[in-house]
Amino acid sequence: MMLSGLYKFSQPALFLIDPEKAHGLTLKALKAGLIPPCNVPHDPALEVTLWGKTFDNPVGLAAGFDKKAAVMGPILKLGFGHTEIGTVTPKAQPGNPQPRLFRDPAHHAVINRMGFPGDGLPPFKANLEAFRNNPNRPAGVIGVNIGMNKGQTDPASDFALLARELAPLADFLVFNVSCPNVKGVCDLQQREPFMDLAGKVMEAAKEACNGNPPPVIAKFGPNLSEAQQEELAKASLEAGIDGISLTNGSTARPDYLPKDFAAEQGGLSGDPVRDLATQSITNFYRLTGGKLPIIGLGGVSSGKDAYEKIKAGASLIQLYTGIVYQGPWVAAQINRDLLALMKADGYSHISEAVGADHRDSTTLKKAS
Ligand code: FNR
Repeated sequence: MMLSGLYKFSQPALFLIDPEKAHGLTLKALKAGLIPPCNVPHDPALEVTLWGKTFDNPVGLAAGFDKKAAVMGPILKLGFGHTEIGTVTPKAQPGNPQPRLFRDPAHHAVINRMGFPGDGLPPFKANLEAFRNNPNRPAGVIGVNIGMNKGQTDPASDFALLARELAPLADFLVFNVSCPNVKGVCDLQQREPFMDLAGKVMEAAKEACNGNPPPVIAKFGPNLSEAQQEELAKASLEAGIDGISLTNGSTARPDYLPKDFAAEQGGLSGDPVRDLATQSITNFYRLTGGKLPIIGLGGVSSGKDAYEKIKAGASLIQLYTGIVYQGPWVAAQINRDLLALMKADGYSHISEAVGADHRDSTTLKKAS
């Protein structure tokens, strides 16, 4: 394809630049309209209806790419059906010291320990409001990912504040309890703090939206034990949240990664987390009886990867690292490939493929 060829051509130059600077340049280019949009013809077979919303297609951009809600329009024009902005925190903070973002091109992997750098709630909210009020904005669903400031001893107060302020502007709200780079965040993946937090986020969103809040989704990590997965699946159903996002970056390091790269602390993403994330989706789908919609992510960079996650139980999929290695037009390619894969399996609509593995007894046995 011409556009992806253009990226393959320019990627070596981009990779000579420090990863965080390269990301900053990409954001600037998107904002300036220097990255051409991708006109993907709409196909009703890929349209996802979930939480009363219509997603043009199942492929979204994952949290962390557009932390400041700065490039929603340009992203949606690249063929993504949705974009998840944030993680935003109440107050501005610098994040961890640089360097904090590392690439391993040989394995299409990234490690990040950004630590939620950002300008805080007010400019984020202003950007989102401006986007919402723009009559010329492109169609597409906007998810908002919220988190806590570093050093916050009462995490629920940060999450509730953000839910109150941002729920009225969000199509769906994700509370991030799985960032490995901010002390205390992953501790929220335990039954008691999780139930308390989920309750407070839902309550705040409900109040702010006069009883009609957007769906509330929890984002979990890929390094949970089976017992933890079971506990969180039960807690998610009990708390009454609307969905789960699986998974965030991984703290595990497969043996084959180069030593220097693997030694960097932070969340590993890209190809090396693909199977781990898919297994989490399989497990949570089974543990929740398919009752909680799943956003599946971790190592998606092709239609085949996306299709695997959908068959494991994901209703929507997302990617971040895939855009680093495949270029900004990756969503369009994934959608084209998804369509072909789904049709080859005899499905007439993508929703028919969601959780298909679980209707095959061999996969069920593997997962249990
Ligand atoms: C992330 N990710 C992330 N997730 C989140 O919930 N909030 C965040 O702020 C960030 N920040 C962030 C920064 C960078 C540089 C990367 C690479 C990733 C995690 C991301 O959303 C996703 O869950 C994982 O990266 C796995 O998906 P991919 O990248 O393998 O497609």
